[in-house]
Amino acid sequence: MAESMLGLKRSHRCAEVVNAPLESEVTVMGWIQKNRNKGGIIFCDLRDRSGILQIIFEEDECGSEVFNKAMKLKQEFCIAVTGILKKRSGAFNESLKTGELEVRAMGLRILSESETPPFHIEEDSKTKEELRLKYRFLDLRRPDLQRNLMVRSKVATTTRNFLSENGFLEIETPTLIKSSPEGARDYLVPSRVYPGSFYALPQSPQLFKQLLMVSGYDRYFQLARCYRDEDLRADRQPEFTQIDMELSFVDVDDVLDVNERLLQRLFKDVLDIDIKLPIQRMTWQEAMDRFGSDKPDLRFGMELKDVSDIVKDSEFAVFKNALANGGSVRGINASGQASMPRKKIDALVEFVKSYKAKGLAYMAVETDGSIKSSFAKFMKEEEIEGLKKALDAKPGDMLFFAADSNKIVWDTLGALRVELANQLGLLKKDDYRFLWVTQFPLLEWSDEENRFKAMHHPFTAPMDEDWQYIDSDPGRVRAKAYDIVLNGTEIGGGSVRIHQADIQSKMFEVLGLSKEVADERFGYLLEAFKYGVPPHAGLAYGLDRVVMLMVGADSIRDVIAFPKVKDASDLMTNAPDKVDDAQLKELGIKIEEN
Ligand code: AMO
Ligand code: AMP
Repeated sequence: MAESMLGLKRSHRCAEVVNAPLESEVTVMGWIQKNRNKGGIIFCDLRDRSGILQIIFEEDECGSEVFNKAMKLKQEFCIAVTGILKKRSGAFNESLKTGELEVRAMGLRILSESETPPFHIEEDSKTKEELRLKYRFLDLRRPDLQRNLMVRSKVATTTRNFLSENGFLEIETPTLIKSSPEGARDYLVPSRVYPGSFYALPQSPQLFKQLLMVSGYDRYFQLARCYRDEDLRADRQPEFTQIDMELSFVDVDDVLDVNERLLQRLFKDVLDIDIKLPIQRMTWQEAMDRFGSDKPDLRFGMELKDVSDIVKDSEFAVFKNALANGGSVRGINASGQASMPRKKIDALVEFVKSYKAKGLAYMAVETDGSIKSSFAKFMKEEEIEGLKKALDAKPGDMLFFAADSNKIVWDTLGALRVELANQLGLLKKDDYRFLWVTQFPLLEWSDEENRFKAMHHPFTAPMDEDWQYIDSDPGRVRAKAYDIVLNGTEIGGGSVRIHQADIQSKMFEVLGLSKEVADERFGYLLEAFKYGVPPHAGLAYGLDRVVMLMVGADSIRDVIAFPKVKDASDLMTNAPDKVDDAQLKELGIKIEEN
């Protein structure tokens, strides 16, 4: 039978009793983690979001009525206990905050009973994630998930405080908006009033925050829900949260400055970690050349080296052809890995294939100085020496080379670098390396669509000195765009926006958007820009990703209360799901069976 709260008041959360005086009376409430009856004495671990507290029921102390009730307790019963706080009579438990304490129960209420849960509620659960997500309400009782969500709450609060202190206004923007399919796929919501018409859920508040700048709000922020119908990965969800901001009358440095201070404050207040400012900056070009990635992980070296010049006259067809086709040959040095077994090398060759590499050439510099390699037989002595020198190879090192278009070589070695670091245990979770990547290309060529696409979005401003190349060599134009990278993950990105009508129309033209299409999609923004648009810039963080890195979680799902799985479904509620015919009819929607 479930008892009520009548006349009962919680005095402390379980772990908060450390602040109460010994011998005082406390009233705690929570769930039963574990209980064992040792003949006449019942030990019970009580859990709430603060931690675990040991409760002792002893018949002599609590009386037989309470004791008999305590005999019925089982895992996950929700109870209230009133008792006296004492030093533990038995051995201390070092692993608990309350490990030196216990509560000797006097009163007990069973607030509700529990069926046997489908899995044990414990830290680092080994239970399959599918089952845990189906019973997410129980999964969320686990201490590690509770800690993650508490960190998330603190990040949100600290962000709000910092940004308000720095003159930002929190303003909400709509989530039923007009579709603008530049970027990821939109989630659409059918209109009942206009059958055949649809709202879209926002991929970000981008255009609205720019309009707020036109309206004079100056500095805006929002913890904004965003929706993108794209393939999910460990750090991607179909709905996620951004810390989104926009500022007027600023240039790149102003945005980076306030954001560095925000990051510093977050890491100090939430994790007590000091971030040294300024955060390192690197241009996109340098990041690609040195790390093969626009989000380099700086926790380790293993930098890429361009060896095209050294091998340009070699007899190795793989290298020769790549260079003849305008590509490059680059390598990395996996230091100390010369004796890597063949099987492991083969696995790496397989690994790089998912980055479109056709192969991976290797050269082991044995400890006696001799060479073991898949391609050395095609190389002259001085070419081999040149490669060793370029990669600073010492006896015992293993060199890997990729030859292809620049993009494939960067992707391949960039990913291989991280994979090797992972295998070699070089990635420490509590080592936080921040980096600004700046001066991204404005445009990116899309082979599928046979046109240039905006690398960030169509409202990103070009660098002043590069705009002259927009017709002759569009790929060369760099943007006033920046990403903030933490340990190889892009946690945020933004740009200075175009605020000149002529540059904006030219940009649409380069992207292949006719004036009509641009007007149809973004007319309201272009119209607004006719009325005194201030120069403005902004940035958005993926809040989920920030928290994920802060708590060292492997999956973004571990920092979201009710996440979706890979196919974008929710295993607990079964969304998405079929709807009634009547609902469809009202919306004028017919489902095609196929
Ligand atoms: P962008 O598209 O780079 O920029 O997104 C900003 C940040 O949001 C996070 N993010 C995601 N997190 C989880 N799941 C996803 N599917 C997902 N997609 C993106 C990333 C990313 O860095 N409006 C611009 C910002 C601006 O220019 O001000 C924008 O949305 O951490
Ligand atoms: P093959 O001539 O195809 O037997 O390849 C000889 C060696 O070169 C093998 O180790 C391949 O993995 C490697 N290789 C093939 N294509 C590439 C490439 N594009 N870049 C680097 N190495 C390659």
